[in-house]
Amino acid sequence: MDTTQGWEWFITKFESLSKIDLNAYKRPQMERRINSFMKSANIGNYSDFISQMGTDRILYQRFIEHITINVSEFFRNLNQWSVLEKDILPALYKERSALRVWSAGCSTGEEAYSLAMLFKEKFNVRIETILATDIDNEVLEKASIGLYAEKALQTLPAEYLNKYLIREGDCYRINDSIKKLVHFKRHDLLKDIFPKDYDLILCRNVVIYFTEGTKQKLYQRFANALRPGGIIFIGSTEQIFQSRELGLESVATFFYRKI
Ligand SMILES: C[S@@+](CC[C@H](N)C(=O)[O-])C[C@H]1O[C@@H](n2cnc3c(N)ncnc32)[C@H](O)[C@@H]1O
Repeated sequence: MDTTQGWEWFITKFESLSKIDLNAYKRPQMERRINSFMKSANIGNYSDFISQMGTDRILYQRFIEHITINVSEFFRNLNQWSVLEKDILPALYKERSALRVWSAGCSTGEEAYSLAMLFKEKFNVRIETILATDIDNEVLEKASIGLYAEKALQTLPAEYLNKYLIREGDCYRINDSIKKLVHFKRHDLLKDIFPKDYDLILCRNVVIYFTEGTKQKLYQRFANALRPGGIIFIGSTEQIFQSRELGLESVATFFYRKI
């Protein structure tokens, strides 16, 4: 592939176009994904790619989806959701009557709706807000529509499916009692100001694409976004190194509490 205009040139131009800073993502992985996308779109070099994305909205949107990796699932890693339900939330409710919750990097909404169903079913709601954010407008739109193919619902317990989703042809739609508990919003973890005073933050399977330095900075910002005693719940391949230095302590695998 002819990449006469180099990597640095590409990421600078791409940032002007999209406001997304690819410097913070792991380069080898990102380069592979970009090159495979260009190949499949029959684009031979970075300058053609940038100019085509400037004029072809669909190509641009497809590319964003390709690099942001939007795979998600309802109750992803069910065992950890069980720890959340049985240990973490009851402990949080000892201190607060209603929780502030943030699903950061929420993709198409499965994580945020899983939370909403859990709060409604097991805790009589008792939340102030579930904020669900992502960098990708396209996934946020899908999330707010809340329509899922049957295949995407395999990990959703049957009790929830029957109670909180309505069949629509081959798909199921999240019902309004669940939808109204979630507020979707665009937020770039690398650029935007973090909201404050959260009791529970989920940031799962998002930072895996970032460099080590970026991850550490993000975890510090998440720690600052928690109120003392608040919890961050991370993905099942993730770990927060030097958590104490960030003001966090591990309370269970994949759960850290703000000291
Ligand atoms: C693999 S999905 C994770 C979805 C969900 N948290 C889960 O575990 O099932 C990763 C999400 O992170 C989002 N993302 C990537 N970079 C981001 C950034 N800088 N700010 C906010 N979200 C970002 C992507 O758009 C994508 O939807």
